[in-house]
Amino acid sequence: MKSDLCGPDFFCIFVNMRKGFDIDLSGMNTFRMEVTCRCFVEYESVDELLEILSDKSLPRPFFPLGGGSNLLFTKDFPGTVLHCGMKGIKDLGSGRVYAEAGMVWDDFCAWCASRGLWGPENLSFIPGEVGASAVQNIGAYGREAGELIESVSCVDAGAGAKVEIPAAECEYAYRDSRFKHDWKGRFFVTGVTFRLSEEPKPELDYGHVREAVKERYGTDDPAFLHPSMIREAVTDIRKGKLPEVSELGSAGSFFRNPYVDGATMETIRQIAIEEGLGNVPSFKVEEDCFKVPAAWLIDKCGWKGKGFGGAAVYEKQPLVLVNKSGKASPGEIIALEEAIRDSVHEKFGVTLEKEVEYV
Ligand code: EPU
Repeated sequence: MKSDLCGPDFFCIFVNMRKGFDIDLSGMNTFRMEVTCRCFVEYESVDELLEILSDKSLPRPFFPLGGGSNLLFTKDFPGTVLHCGMKGIKDLGSGRVYAEAGMVWDDFCAWCASRGLWGPENLSFIPGEVGASAVQNIGAYGREAGELIESVSCVDAGAGAKVEIPAAECEYAYRDSRFKHDWKGRFFVTGVTFRLSEEPKPELDYGHVREAVKERYGTDDPAFLHPSMIREAVTDIRKGKLPEVSELGSAGSFFRNPYVDGATMETIRQIAIEEGLGNVPSFKVEEDCFKVPAAWLIDKCGWKGKGFGGAAVYEKQPLVLVNKSGKASPGEIIALEEAIRDSVHEKFGVTLEKEVEYV
């Protein structure tokens, strides 16, 4: 593995290991599930990936693993886990940047911020890798990766060919893209071309970002801001309320924030009044459509800090389930997910959808 751009990621334990059988995946998923895969291969070039995908001797199915930060391995994986070992980055000029899929996402954010390129700074400190950002459409503090992507370089497993897919065809939506649906198992992301801004484009209007920036730097005037300032403020906010995956196993937000219609929104407000739950935080998406924080719904069902066995709801952000004991089994996490979903549905009539992928 190349080390120059390698951040503090756990793949470093696999230095020089390109292929192996019955590999322990506990260091390769941020939930720290103790599972294995039948075969693990790390590729260093697109041609190598094409070869791997056509190699009949490798156990199927293939599963592309990024930083392992948005999934739950529910059992030993019988096929081949693929990891992109390419971590390079290239300035294409005029704000365009090409990053290889295996680059640690936060290293990408740091690289862009240090060059004064605007766009990814609000997405700082999100665990994972560049390839997954294009699949998952990661989002935080008013920005989504999909808004910054020009095109996605992939290998089409069906055709055995390289393809360049424009962002417009990826159907980016809240935590979603075609890579998670009809393109799943077909396209393997090898790199992403981003179109960033050389002009100041601070996005400060989500949550406490503006406040945090003003407090640190005494101004929120775009003329005096640099992307690295926002990057630092966002990193601090995230560190304050999300568990660091190096210390406590988790997969970030476990559930998506649900969208509800006006009638359901009204029911939730009524329940909140009757039970003295305070104001219901919500965001109007469009006519008759509201986004409600899953964190609030879970909190008001009394789940904070509670759990089953080694699995628990994180104290500071109930949207996050954690491997509190370090020894939680996939079954305990799943049981907790189901119990939370049932109680939120029973109390508020809202069905939470998980964001974390079960493998
Ligand atoms: N809240 C509570 N109780 C709590 C914590 C929060 O009621 O203990 C309520 C508060 O009302 C708060 C609201 O939940 O205002 C929303 O919280 P926040 O804006 O911090 O986060 P979120 O909407 O729950 C989303 C993303 C996060 C992202 C933040 C910031 C999803 C599923 N999650 O969370 O993404 O960092 O916004 O943009 O959309 C991730 O994907 O792993 C992730 C952490």
